Amino acid sequence: MSIPCDMLVFGGTGDLALHKLLPALYHLHRARRLHGDTRILALARRAHSREAFQALAERHCRAQVARADFDNDSWASFAARLDYFAMDASQSADFGRLGQRLGSDPERVRIYYLATAPDLFEDIAAYLKVANLAGPKARIVLEKPIGHSLESAQAINAAIGAVFDESRVFRIDHYLGKETVQNLMALRFANALFEPIWRAGHIDHVQISVCETLGVENRGAYYDKAGAMRDMVQNHLLQLLCLVAMEAPVRFDAEAVRNEKVKILEALQPIGGLDVQDKTVRGQYGAGKIGGQEVPAYYFEKNVDNDSDTETFVAVQAQSDIWRWAGVPFYLRTGKRLARKTSEILIQFKPVPHQLFGEGEANRLLIRLQPEERISLQLMSKSPGKGMRLKPVELDLNLADAFHPQRRWDAYERLLLDVIEGDSTLFMRRDEVEAAWRWIDPIIKGWHQHYQSPRPYPAGSNGPEQLQNLLERHGRQWME
Ligand code: BG6
Repeated sequence: MSIPCDMLVFGGTGDLALHKLLPALYHLHRARRLHGDTRILALARRAHSREAFQALAERHCRAQVARADFDNDSWASFAARLDYFAMDASQSADFGRLGQRLGSDPERVRIYYLATAPDLFEDIAAYLKVANLAGPKARIVLEKPIGHSLESAQAINAAIGAVFDESRVFRIDHYLGKETVQNLMALRFANALFEPIWRAGHIDHVQISVCETLGVENRGAYYDKAGAMRDMVQNHLLQLLCLVAMEAPVRFDAEAVRNEKVKILEALQPIGGLDVQDKTVRGQYGAGKIGGQEVPAYYFEKNVDNDSDTETFVAVQAQSDIWRWAGVPFYLRTGKRLARKTSEILIQFKPVPHQLFGEGEANRLLIRLQPEERISLQLMSKSPGKGMRLKPVELDLNLADAFHPQRRWDAYERLLLDVIEGDSTLFMRRDEVEAAWRWIDPIIKGWHQHYQSPRPYPAGSNGPEQLQNLLERHGRQWME
């Protein structure tokens, strides 16, 4: 059982709160992981009664939570924790009202979850301080994106840092809360098998793919300013790259793990200027079909400019200048409205030094994060019968089966519990976020200078045609 706290969610009626945070808190409540005295207060501008908010929350939780996990008794006791407070987070005076509502209790842990646009982060932190709500027991949780460039991220981090010391700042990247992502660390650092070959001499290249079938849904206004590079690569894909590439930390704690990750980010070879033409592919979806349904082109989506040149697809060839990975490319790709939803990491090993049985395929290890959590190792094996005819076969581990009937936790459940317990191992530290922007900014700048509009690709395809060139010119192929 965790400590009692107040969880205050700014943007409390937004998509993230209703679709992810409240269902995750409900699961934690049902699993008795929340202290009996923990309260959840949603904060947003519109006037809602407490009952109206509880009804809204119930509607969304019922839709998000599997039927088998939703029961009326658990809901009733969970709803008793929920409350709502109407305020405008851009108005300092409203924080005074919030303070009165909360009452003063210096021992009470207060967690401020900023599920709002990042341009409100600085004001919220400052107003919390003015209203005396940011005492030593207070923590703040920031949703990505932290800014839209290095400069804006530094400004946000400085403003937050002026109010909360780093140990009380939790920058969320929900990919780090996914079981398989954590499993990547278990695979690498709890098994002796892979370590000796987890390096340039044995690995040819790495592919990290996060493909979605969804479009921008109702987030057009945000997405059109961000694009796939800021929305996905700056955080989720670079975090995955770090976990694949980092050295073993000396301990599994927040500082040791994050020290190792930041080294990888700082060693990424800069890509800027004309390099963007060779090392990146930028795309935007046109009309097409997803699951048999016609879907519109990106520029016809709600709240998106009709002549938008925002990318909905990115592929990048990244390389980290450290001994272990000298010369090994990490190919990253992510996009919306692609043929299938899947997130996976492919470690492509080098071929055996001497092909005793004729042409064979090199080993590869596939770590799939979604839709199912799976680790499979492709090995060459002899086909039955006479002669040495070889065929690739899979050694396949389905993690949901291996741990059946344990329920797989959603990333937000794990991360919210970590915030409550004050464990920041799976959160991004300030220097990590800034190192990631330091690498991303020149690419975006290079695009503006040297890259025409994003390449079109039909919704439901695998991305723009140019995607293949990125690998083919090095004699490699994307795994489909
Ligand atoms: C979010 C992005 O961080 O991650 C979204 O803002 C994206 O655009 C989502 O759809 C993908 O997350 P998941 O967990 O569905 O892979």
